[in-house]
Amino acid sequence: MAVERTLVIIKPEAVKEGLVGEILARFERKGLKIARIRDGRVDRALARQHYAHHADKPFFEGLLDAITAGPVVFAIIEGPSAIAHVRNLVGATNPIEATPGSIRGDFARELPFNMVHASDSPETAEEEIRRFFGEGA
Ligand code: PPS
Repeated sequence: MAVERTLVIIKPEAVKEGLVGEILARFERKGLKIARIRDGRVDRALARQHYAHHADKPFFEGLLDAITAGPVVFAIIEGPSAIAHVRNLVGATNPIEATPGSIRGDFARELPFNMVHASDSPETAEEEIRRFFGEGA
């Protein structure tokens, strides 16, 4: 199994609800490593860049509002098949479809407030790690 890195953003609604420790613990309990972590915010320009491939969608501005609403936590999660494992732990994009036991299934109620963003491929992961941790990360 390839060791991978993936970028996780614990979104403003999860920080506000005090779920940071709970969410990180689920990655650690799976045996994945928190390689880097920092707090911060996603400003509107960065949010537009991050979600650029959805710029034509009707929910785009609402998605930007949600991710820029408050402080977030950025983490690089590392381990064998980390991208797939993290996405499984996070659950389906839409909280209504996310299985209980997943982060979104347990804590999220409706889009766009799905608690966590997680990269969906090795290429996206590296691009997003550079975007939020800088070129050398
Ligand atoms: S994913 O995770 O990239 O495969 O999900 P995808 O379905 O491509 O969605 C990309 C991001 O758009 C958000 N999204 C929505 N927001 C609000 N309303 C609706 N209907 C909606 N559909 C998709 C979705 O949450 C993804 O953002 P992240 O931050 O990855 O969750």
